[in-house]
Amino acid sequence: MRQAMVAGNWKMHGLHARNEELLAALLPSLQALPDRDVEVVVCPPSIYLESVGRVLAALDGDIHLGAQNVCSQAGQGAYTGEVSVEMLRDVGCTHVILGHSERRTLFAETDEAVADKLRVALAAGLTPIVCVGEQLAEREAGETEAVVERQLTAVLAACPSDQLANMVLAYEPVWAIGTGLTATPDQAQEVHQFIRTRIARVDATMAGLVRILYGGSVKAANAKELFAMPDVDGGLIGGASLTTEFTAIVAAAGAH
Ligand code: 13P
Repeated sequence: MRQAMVAGNWKMHGLHARNEELLAALLPSLQALPDRDVEVVVCPPSIYLESVGRVLAALDGDIHLGAQNVCSQAGQGAYTGEVSVEMLRDVGCTHVILGHSERRTLFAETDEAVADKLRVALAAGLTPIVCVGEQLAEREAGETEAVVERQLTAVLAACPSDQLANMVLAYEPVWAIGTGLTATPDQAQEVHQFIRTRIARVDATMAGLVRILYGGSVKAANAKELFAMPDVDGGLIGGASLTTEFTAIVAAAGAH
């Protein structure tokens, strides 16, 4: 049985005062959820990891701290502007989002760069949440599986097979991100199943254990239907993670 996960990707949103306000509104409602069997992760901008982490730490590890990116070089070094896996661990991160489409398209992150980051994240004991997904033109050209297969092949080449279950995948169709256009539950299931089948070619047991999240305009109103699909194990949430709607999405994931 795979434990559901819901991760909030705050992207480049927040300021100290706003973060405090959001956490003050959000955390009590999350904690009040009865029998919550959902791994919950909050991923603020890196400059706020430490301050948000301090608030989360007071909750006894109930809610995890994740980063949105990491340097592909581990250790210390002359990499201006970068943050290492050790630094993420040092401020209390347990998770890290890798290969988000915004990083791939706006910051030219290649499949190889994502794979390099995955290697260092796994070696450091962080749980990577690796994003894959097609652009609208690729879906319209019938290339969804080919694109996801290409992205996934790089990921699987970087992940030792005995560590497959330590990785979380997130299917985020780029056309559904921040657009209000959600993939239908059937569209999501189709790609999630494709991903799991592809992983099963490496290791069938591990494929049954890997969690695959859906991301792209997940809201309280559509979360339940999406999470009800057999290969959808939770969500990676953008806009709705900046409001108390996030709690309803976590509750929806716990209902399965
Ligand atoms: P939205 O939920 O705002 O569409 O963003 C999804 C996303 O990119 C999460 O990583």
